[in-house]
Amino acid sequence: MSDLHRLCVIPGDGVGKEVIPAAVAVLRGVIDNLEIVEAEAGWETFQQMGTALPAETLDAARRCGSVLFGAVASPTYPVEGYRSPIVALRRALDVFANIRPLIGWPISTAHPALNLIVVRENTEGLYGGKERLEGDTAISERVITRAGSSRIARVAFELARPDKRRVTIIHKANVIRVGDGLWRSTCLEVAGEYPDVENDEGIVDAVAYHLVRDPGRYDLLLCPNLYGDILSDLGAGLGGGLGMAPSLSLGEQYAIAEPTHGAAPDIAGQGIANPIGAILSGALLARHRWQRLNAADAIEEAINQVLDSGLRTPDIAGAGEEAVGTEVMTQAIQDALR
Ligand code: NAI
Ligand code: MG
Repeated sequence: MSDLHRLCVIPGDGVGKEVIPAAVAVLRGVIDNLEIVEAEAGWETFQQMGTALPAETLDAARRCGSVLFGAVASPTYPVEGYRSPIVALRRALDVFANIRPLIGWPISTAHPALNLIVVRENTEGLYGGKERLEGDTAISERVITRAGSSRIARVAFELARPDKRRVTIIHKANVIRVGDGLWRSTCLEVAGEYPDVENDEGIVDAVAYHLVRDPGRYDLLLCPNLYGDILSDLGAGLGGGLGMAPSLSLGEQYAIAEPTHGAAPDIAGQGIANPIGAILSGALLARHRWQRLNAADAIEEAINQVLDSGLRTPDIAGAGEEAVGTEVMTQAIQDALR
């Protein structure tokens, strides 16, 4: 009998409620001894309880160690007392490494040469919330530390090793000399500890250009927070859209798997959300958190098979291709696993 895996499941808002049950159903099919704890967070939770991330949810996440999170519908206007629960959860669990594999799946909306992992630092940079207004001047502090940079660099080099990927260190050290300079030199130091892993470096804007022109050019991009956020969305666009894009945020103790997309209010409640990004996020948990490599491979192979057979949700259907809903897609993936 294999280990018990505990998973805190937080569907959140909008299509999170549709794609997360799909991901759980698929995970149950390949992981025996999966114990699920359901928890609440999000905008709806805030409206009901006055907090977007209840203490019980944080406790459940800590108790389980692994979280599968859907999406939250954060309002675009400031709301007294509201903080994005996913940002707060990532910080509370110190999941500093955001891992986003981007694959050219067999669909017409994806670029076939794409086979990239974006590794994004998830706790520092411009997202630390240290901002202030001084009259008409806004100052946003960007913090880069040696410790923060070296721990994310190690994750990237460890990930690169098994598939012999080349690590490209992303920066803008030609302009942001101090901050990106420290990032770059720390990543290069860590590179020195991995003589068997190939590495090079790229200036972030040039890399964006090359990625669009030649999506097969890079293997693994090691990025500070903001650059990683932007390049991974660019990569998601090349990979067939947000509905396809998974992510895993890893720390020393905890992991949060979540599809890259948001609550998608324009399609929520219609049963047409693409569940693949969420299902692939579950596969990332299986591979990188639980070391259940066969389970992860099986999920990815089932998705490949289903897409090869021509099944499409509306977001990935090309011109003239018929589309199915979330349930039909999920059932087909489950069937392919049997
Ligand atoms: P979004 O990712 O929700 O939607 C962008 C576009 O992609 C929409 O046209 C949507 O229909 C489509 N899309 C997204 N997921 C899809 C799926 N699974 N299947 C098919 N199509 C899909 O981003 P948007 O519109 O910028 O944000 C909507 C809400 O979500 C906002 O309240 C925003 O704050 C929140 N959000 C939450 C995130 C999170 O919880 N991690 C991330 C991004 C946005
Ligand atoms: Mg983003």
